[in-house]
Amino acid sequence: MNPAEHKSTVEAAPARPSDSCAMVIFGAGGDLTKRKLIPALHNLALDNLLSRQFAVIGFATTAFDTESFRGKLRKDLKEFSSRPIDDEIWEWLARRIYYVRGAFDDADAYKRLAASIAEASAEHGVHPNLFHYLAVAPRFFGAIVRQLEVAGLAKEDGGQWRRVIVEKPFGHDLETARALNAEIKQVLDERQIYRIDHYLGKETVQNLMVFRFGNGIFEPIWNRRYIDHVQITAAETVGVEQRGGYYETAGALRDMVPNHLSQLVSLTAMEPPFSFGADAVRDEQSKVLHAIQAFTPEDVLSKTVRGQYGEGMHGTESVPAYRAEPRVAPDSRTETYAALKLTIDNWRWAGVPFYLRTGKRMAKRCTEIAIQFRRAPFSLFRRAGADNPTQNRLVIRIQPDEGIALTFGAKMPGTIMRQGEVHMDFSYADQFGGPPSTGYERLLYDCMTGDQTLFQRADMVEAGWALIQPILDVWSVLPVRNFPNYAASTWGPAEANELLARDGRAWGKMPR
Ligand code: BG6
Repeated sequence: MNPAEHKSTVEAAPARPSDSCAMVIFGAGGDLTKRKLIPALHNLALDNLLSRQFAVIGFATTAFDTESFRGKLRKDLKEFSSRPIDDEIWEWLARRIYYVRGAFDDADAYKRLAASIAEASAEHGVHPNLFHYLAVAPRFFGAIVRQLEVAGLAKEDGGQWRRVIVEKPFGHDLETARALNAEIKQVLDERQIYRIDHYLGKETVQNLMVFRFGNGIFEPIWNRRYIDHVQITAAETVGVEQRGGYYETAGALRDMVPNHLSQLVSLTAMEPPFSFGADAVRDEQSKVLHAIQAFTPEDVLSKTVRGQYGEGMHGTESVPAYRAEPRVAPDSRTETYAALKLTIDNWRWAGVPFYLRTGKRMAKRCTEIAIQFRRAPFSLFRRAGADNPTQNRLVIRIQPDEGIALTFGAKMPGTIMRQGEVHMDFSYADQFGGPPSTGYERLLYDCMTGDQTLFQRADMVEAGWALIQPILDVWSVLPVRNFPNYAASTWGPAEANELLARDGRAWGKMPR
């Protein structure tokens, strides 16, 4: 078969349902289960992507039994489903949902869990494949994995598979991330570990690879010769909501950069992988992360910015300062905004800065990657009064309003030669309709079919932490004095503008 034939068969093949398996959700009484996991399973069943031989066992300390758990999930689904609920599908799924109450470190509870898995599997003809979703606080990860081993729920010793999905945050810094990797690897093989980064479940993030490597026209200009710099923004309008307790120990840098933003950097900057296989793709991502120039203490002072929001107005509504949020210290020094300038030391990117920024309580919710191209080498039209060649800009909008836009110069109509800026805009919603997915369907499906491409490998997680560790170190010994330094519903502290202004650049205009 020649490569072209192979490609068309791959594209034309209908997706098969997942392998027959049971899914255990640790922390099943929590937010993630109701907001994302159950709606995603419902959507997978709607699309015929869930095996008919399937079961879910919720495991948590919350006081439910199987009946009341099913009832609660039905109510939650009404609130959180991304698609209209199909009653028949829900009934089918609900009959396959069970609940076990227990503490994560109680060996007896794992015996009850094993019994419930056996019962559910017998009732629904489920193959002994098993995956565990750790939707729990990270301090339980190690204990759960050890208990799974003792209960015989982690070992693959027949034709079946056993997998574990681990939620973020994966560690608190480089050292704890390494320790956690070492701990769970005492029980599990790397190929059994699925470290989730929900950004990789987003359609537009996955589209980055198709955009770059499924088209012939972009790759030749995707380098230092044509690209002046890259800006990556992940801005949220919400504050810390009810998560002050966690956020006080994390801050914007830990919360967003070693994981989500590093993924965006690596997918934007990676070399073309030799195949779409999990390790081929992740090898290239990992190389980029390792090629990011390590921050020296001086770099931390000149190339990073931190901010914390004060009170402000969100439309007509006044919103409190971070320090007035629930479970936040009144003199907190936790940053709710971070901006950094990265340099990637390889032949493709040397000399092309990557500016990253992320923050809570920004003026607009918007995650995007903006590729700023170099200007035309000189202005051919300056005698005609059009002396400012447009700087072409390609913006990949991750969310909301998913799409891709290219800005370029065009002649303004009229007898006089004038140049103006125009946009070519592709919108996912216009082209393909609204987003029906929660972002978790793909990740759950991939785990159930054994595809680790969209999950983080141990070396990638550690490279993400290694990137920010020098910043954490300097920031912790040099506490800030000027917090809060931006008003809620603005674009962050003035220093973030200076970070680019020093290089003769500015953050791109954001949608209003
Ligand atoms: C999470 C962070 O990982 O990502 C949150 O802990 C943040 O603080 C969220 O709000 C952002 O995700 P999304 O999909 O809304 O961009």
